[in-house]
Amino acid sequence: MRRLIDRYDVHAPRYTSYPTAAQFTPAVGPADWAAWLKRTPRDAAVSLYLHFPFCKRLCWYCGCNTRAVNRAGVVSTYVDLLLQEADLVLAHIGRSVRVGSIHLGGGTPNMLSPDDLERLFAGLSARFDLRDCFEIAAELDPEVLTSEWVEAAGRVGLNRASLGVQDLSPRVQAAVNRPESFETIRWAAEALRGQGVTSLNLDLMYGLPLQTVEHVVTTLGRVTTLKPDRIALFGYAHVPWMKPHQRLINDADLPDAEARFIQSQAAARYLTGKGWQTVGLDHFALPHDGLAAADRSGRLHRNFQGYTTDAAEVLIGLGASSISRTPQGFVQNHVQERDWRQAVGAGDLPVARGVALTEQAAFVGEIIERLMCDFVVDVARIARRRGRDLSEVAGAWSRLERFAADGLVCLDGTVVAVTTLGKPFVRAVCAAFDPDAADIQQRHARVV
Ligand SMILES: C[S@@+](CC[C@H](N)C(=O)[O-])C[C@H]1O[C@@H](n2cnc3c(N)ncnc32)[C@H](O)[C@@H]1O
Ligand code: SF4
Repeated sequence: MRRLIDRYDVHAPRYTSYPTAAQFTPAVGPADWAAWLKRTPRDAAVSLYLHFPFCKRLCWYCGCNTRAVNRAGVVSTYVDLLLQEADLVLAHIGRSVRVGSIHLGGGTPNMLSPDDLERLFAGLSARFDLRDCFEIAAELDPEVLTSEWVEAAGRVGLNRASLGVQDLSPRVQAAVNRPESFETIRWAAEALRGQGVTSLNLDLMYGLPLQTVEHVVTTLGRVTTLKPDRIALFGYAHVPWMKPHQRLINDADLPDAEARFIQSQAAARYLTGKGWQTVGLDHFALPHDGLAAADRSGRLHRNFQGYTTDAAEVLIGLGASSISRTPQGFVQNHVQERDWRQAVGAGDLPVARGVALTEQAAFVGEIIERLMCDFVVDVARIARRRGRDLSEVAGAWSRLERFAADGLVCLDGTVVAVTTLGKPFVRAVCAAFDPDAADIQQRHARVV
């Protein structure tokens, strides 16, 4: 395994999309977004993603687009602007649209006051058709959660929640500036379930500074008593060149690739031994949960939040740094909240960059999504359905020979199957199909 890690622990995207956000450019902007919005299909429901770039505290490992705020007024005016952005989007679509799912992400959406949360949903339901909205989800910081907020969430229909946990050891928590008690998490889990949350996810991390395999397993031992429907186990992505505050973490305290690998394997063994099903690369779900069912039936998808059951073609992102997706391409809003506020305030779509999706990129994207979700893909079948030529991905086969020789993939005609040994390296397998992987690799964290 050490030899494989030396060979394949390269820098590669997490492939939450293809093309990846690193490939977005300012050549695609508000005019493209306006044109794509006009083509929103009439018959299908869209998904909404709302980003809240606010936190009570700044965890040193954090890779999200967020900042620490302590003034409620900042968050409240942000909600006004989110609704104004929704108006701009709908003006370009030219009618109201049906929404199938709403995801509040961050940052920390529970930095909104309970009143602002209800005001936001009143505003959304006045603008969009939410009658078929089957999922309302939010990413929550348990340390900031109040019973008033949970009650308001119950009233707006929150049915899926994700709580940030990471690691329960005080030593690791001190090394990343994130104190958090198990009692708080237990309270949050019970309160949310009491108000209608039927699918509860906990975010855990491995590869954190001073973290050992014992810390990971001890944390799992405690949080599994809460029977979370889903668990996301993220490997810490250390990218201080992108996120300068990560320099607060002492590099010498970070577990090396082999230790990280052992931690992730021990966690997977522990969870599968307790009845959670592995889903994709880093998620786990109890068999009754929708994510586990989607995985069993080959309907798992990947989006910017990780693995999902959401199959909507159109995702409309609102808020600073949010990414939207349509069959025509991707756009990202201004990452700096000030720029986003300025654009929305001036009545402009606040898009900063993006990428138009060529037929070839959509073909490569589907190959990568299936590999990330199912670990197996029949390239010829996808090519046939999309009317593409296999020669478009010809370079991948020679790059994959080395993986096959090392037992990481099995190649059978045009079928690529990632082996159990190869699963931890699936992002490197995907990169074999990505013509730009070599150019952008230094921007990403390592694979293991
Ligand atoms: C928006 S936060 C979750 C909600 C809330 N802000 C909290 O922290 O409790 C998203 C999650 O991303 C994960 N995460 C953040 N930074 C990361 C990094 N550098 N590498 C891997 N995972 C990371 C953490 O597990 C975190 O819970
Ligand atoms: S992990 Fe969550 S609470 Fe911590 S800084 Fe990131 S988004 Fe904020």
